Amino acid sequence: MSVTILAIESSCDETSAAVCRDGIILSNEIATQIVHEQYGGVVPELAGRAHMEHIVPVVDAAIKKAGVDLQELNAVGFTQAPGLIGSLLVGAQFAKSMALALGRPLIGVHHMQAHVLANLIGDPAPEFPFLCLTVSGGHTQIVLCKSPLDMQVLGETIDDAAGEAFDKAAKILGLPYPGGPLIDRYASQGNPDRFQFPEPQIPDLNFSFSGVKTSFLYFLKNAGKSLVYKEQFLASEAERQQFIADNLPDICASIQSRIVSILLHKLKKAVQLTGVKQVCLAGGVSANSGLRKAFLEMGVRHHWKTYIPDFAYCTDNAAMIALTAYHKYLKQDFVSLDAVPTARSSWDS
Ligand code: KG4
Ligand code: ZN
Repeated sequence: MSVTILAIESSCDETSAAVCRDGIILSNEIATQIVHEQYGGVVPELAGRAHMEHIVPVVDAAIKKAGVDLQELNAVGFTQAPGLIGSLLVGAQFAKSMALALGRPLIGVHHMQAHVLANLIGDPAPEFPFLCLTVSGGHTQIVLCKSPLDMQVLGETIDDAAGEAFDKAAKILGLPYPGGPLIDRYASQGNPDRFQFPEPQIPDLNFSFSGVKTSFLYFLKNAGKSLVYKEQFLASEAERQQFIADNLPDICASIQSRIVSILLHKLKKAVQLTGVKQVCLAGGVSANSGLRKAFLEMGVRHHWKTYIPDFAYCTDNAAMIALTAYHKYLKQDFVSLDAVPTARSSWDS
């Protein structure tokens, strides 16, 4: 018997719905919220409201595009955690209503597990066990994935996420939100070795980006003359602006290069510690061309088998939620209609 799942993702600022049949994605509709651009970051209240506007047309489009009848659905999946609570609630309530109306089971999905499993959508897909570096606006993790639902977090950020580091660096440069893709674009024309930012000394497989961010801030306040805090910065506002205007590609290439080296340094260490050489990327930051290039080169150098999901499955999407829900369906891992979404969630819950 074939298994058809409808899933909804609404953890942050993307409203998405997808249908998957027997692990194959039939549709993946995404409505991006542009309302946040003007505020320099996602505004939770506005995100919740925008999900309310988008959810009906997005689910409708996903079902139509998949060419399935509602009665063919075996279950309804939704992102249960982690995320913005007002955003999660919209997707959760909608999924519950559909499950109730159709008389089908409900499946709660952990958003970060789903990012890892996005790699299974690709062809060829990684074999188990594999390592995954998940880098997004809210998370940075190295995960050991032993089977679809058996995962272990080996390391994660103790402060900012990688995407946050990109976005904050962009904000300091006066670039609009989300700044990650803009840094990437300018970096492609710049010299990554021109400016040096410190590599944090964090034990184990954990990450930290706050020190790099702070040194980047002082570097610009000093118009490139020093990385350290001075009571009296070494440059006037006009000099800073001029310094940025004259050196933007090199500044972007240098900060991108440091963020990428922090990520890949720990990933290499994870491979050494586990001996696992199937290695994947996931999350929105895996769109970064500097990261992709360095990751693939590192794979060739160290004889890893490397995988990066298609861009549509790197950023937030319901296809990865549907695929994870499919694996949970096979284990009859359902939640009741009174299941509540949670903003934070440990990996095992
Ligand atoms: O996974 P995602 O779409 O949403 C979250 O779950 O956070 O990731 C969004 C993050 C943002 O911080 C954005 O700036 C970053 O991914 N990002 C990039 C690039 N494209 C997206 N960062 C660097 N370079 C890119 N090309
Ligand atoms: Zn995400």
